[in-house]
Amino acid sequence: KKLFCVLGIESSCDDTGAAVIRSDGTILGESLASQHAIHEEFGGVVPGLAKTAHEENIDGVIRAALSNANMSMEEIDAIGVTVGPGLEICLRVGCNKGRELAMMYNKPFVGVHHLEAHILMARIPPGKYDKNDGGENRSVAPYDEVTTTSHDERAMDFPFLALLVSGGHCQILKCLGVGRYSILGGTLDDSLGEAFDKTARLLGLPVGGGGGPAVEALSAHGDPHSLALPIPMQRRKDCDFSYAGLKTSVRMAAERICVERGLESPEELPFEDKANIAASFQHVAFRHVEVRLGRAMEQVEREDGIRTLAVVGGVAANKELRRRLNSLCSDRAVSWDMHVPPPRLCTDQGAMSAWAAVERLCVGSSDLAEDQDVFARYP
Ligand code: KG4
Ligand code: ZN
Repeated sequence: KKLFCVLGIESSCDDTGAAVIRSDGTILGESLASQHAIHEEFGGVVPGLAKTAHEENIDGVIRAALSNANMSMEEIDAIGVTVGPGLEICLRVGCNKGRELAMMYNKPFVGVHHLEAHILMARIPPGKYDKNDGGENRSVAPYDEVTTTSHDERAMDFPFLALLVSGGHCQILKCLGVGRYSILGGTLDDSLGEAFDKTARLLGLPVGGGGGPAVEALSAHGDPHSLALPIPMQRRKDCDFSYAGLKTSVRMAAERICVERGLESPEELPFEDKANIAASFQHVAFRHVEVRLGRAMEQVEREDGIRTLAVVGGVAANKELRRRLNSLCSDRAVSWDMHVPPPRLCTDQGAMSAWAAVERLCVGSSDLAEDQDVFARYP
């Protein structure tokens, strides 16, 4: 089978990303312009500012991805662009650019679903991207022992179960094939990434690019059992999530400690207190994941014989989550295989749009660039 190369563009939120990927999963060139510094002072992404930054960055990012790949636009075989869900005015910047290039160079075009792109990243064949990057926690199987030669080979086959945990989404899905997903659970309120971001804000940690990394780093210095926070939705025996209640419990616990210390706000708490709060939050937030995911695993194992799990989305970059879900998989009566992209490919970047387009093209599916629209909500 002949290999082909796809240029991917991603601009659904606050990062402008582009990448060139070969259809065997080799990332040939990447570039990512982060807007963290722009949104930091507002404590969240400001859509108008994000749109302007995307417009300023997009040409440079695409040029850099191509030049890192040592390729010209003529040598690219197809273009993949995130068209939803996300911030509409931001999506439009990437979509318009992708359409323009597809029409100008007469290339096949794929309008990519951002959530599908997160999920499919777990199927990039092992060892195809930087080996130093994801080795330790990538999978229960030793990845370096696997070599792949054809684009029919993927890290994992359908069907599999996916846990998608990002800033915008928190879902458990049964993945049957490219474009074929069934949602087993979603969130009733906040996503897991949002819960991390709100905890970071409460404690006055840096939130640029999401508060997750800051909360994770701080948690390593705290006692996860120091605060007794309730595990959400204990009585509901389904696979849905809810993080709004945990957010309130964390804030109340932090305020109680403030009163004990005679301080005005949680931001003023000493390092040890903040670390204990962060660690306790993270512990319970992940316990909630284990309970809901464990239930979904039981269901698909029983009904469909599925024993493969993909963990994807920004929060999948978290080492503690990777460790705990690895145990969840290996502790089962018959152990499960777990696949997690390396951390830098869990969060938003251009390779995800490029790879999702590869997968769509491999099943003979593409879109008409001329007609492509963007979708803020995209079921
Ligand atoms: O997938 P992503 O980059 O964007 C969306 O599609 O939403 O996910 C971003 C989310 C943010 O909420 C961020 O705080 C969270 O992922 N995140 C983390 C970590 N890295 C990113 N959460 C916990 N631990 C991390 N190491
Ligand atoms: Zn994302």
